[in-house]
Amino acid sequence: MNKKESDTAIVELLNNTLYRGQTSILKNISWKINQGEHWALIGPNGSGKTTLLKIVSGSLWPSSGEVKVLGHKFGKVDLRELRKKIGMVASYLTEQIPAHQKALAAVISGKYSSFGIYQKVLDKDKIKAIQLLKFLRCLHIKGMEFQHISQGEKQKVLIARALIAEPLILILDEPCSALDLKSRKDVLSSVSKICRENNATVIYVTHHFDEIVPEIKNIFMIKKGRNFMHGKAKDILNVSNIKRLMA
Ligand SMILES: Nc1ncnc2c1ncn2[C@@H]1O[C@H](COP(=O)(O)OP(=O)(O)OP(=O)(O)O)[C@@H](O)[C@H]1O
Ligand SMILES: [Mg+2]
Repeated sequence: MNKKESDTAIVELLNNTLYRGQTSILKNISWKINQGEHWALIGPNGSGKTTLLKIVSGSLWPSSGEVKVLGHKFGKVDLRELRKKIGMVASYLTEQIPAHQKALAAVISGKYSSFGIYQKVLDKDKIKAIQLLKFLRCLHIKGMEFQHISQGEKQKVLIARALIAEPLILILDEPCSALDLKSRKDVLSSVSKICRENNATVIYVTHHFDEIVPEIKNIFMIKKGRNFMHGKAKDILNVSNIKRLMA
């Protein structure tokens, strides 16, 4: 990648503050994510990770501060269009997939940003969904109802569902929570693969720093809604910083 490409900002948050009532849930957060980077967002429960990513994905506005995503400044862009370029995987989404929907259909639904399929499925989308399930090594579940597949498989369906829309940003909000060790390992190896082989910029949220795969080289630490520390994983991801972050 040449210098110019690597300097292209995918996300630029400047002094973002978000109030709920008198409380500032986020306070003066600034964060720049460049093209070609993958980031982990880590911090204790309630530190503001999900809220911050709701801003990045265009579903929340900060009370103050600037937001620029994929080169578009919020306030000057159609957020509905921008949201199509941002894939989201979060546990609350599993509840929105119809229980009887087949895994393959759940993946295809991502193409229409819906939780059911209300139009004729194009062959090319079906083929793409099959390729994605294969890419995530779970093609065998394609004909199973969503309610019957395992938690790990559900996460993979959500990941494939996000990828089918060819997002430029993929947000994975604690994709391994509630997974057993084997499923966790399996999902993490899919995350590595996505970082290596997919075009999307990955933002991986967790409060377990051992989930940060080697392809994710940048870390943003958040504590009590404030930027605690950010930088290269090799420089800041150590026991002492983690202890202070989680204290
Ligand atoms: N709509 C709201 N009204 C009031 N407080 C809120 C609202 N949404 C979030 N909060 C509070 O903001 C804080 C940050 O929440 P958030 O969900 O962003 O944290 P998180 O870092 O994602 O936590 P977790 O690791 O548990 O998922 C929490 O204290 C939460 O209770
Ligand atoms: Mg959260």
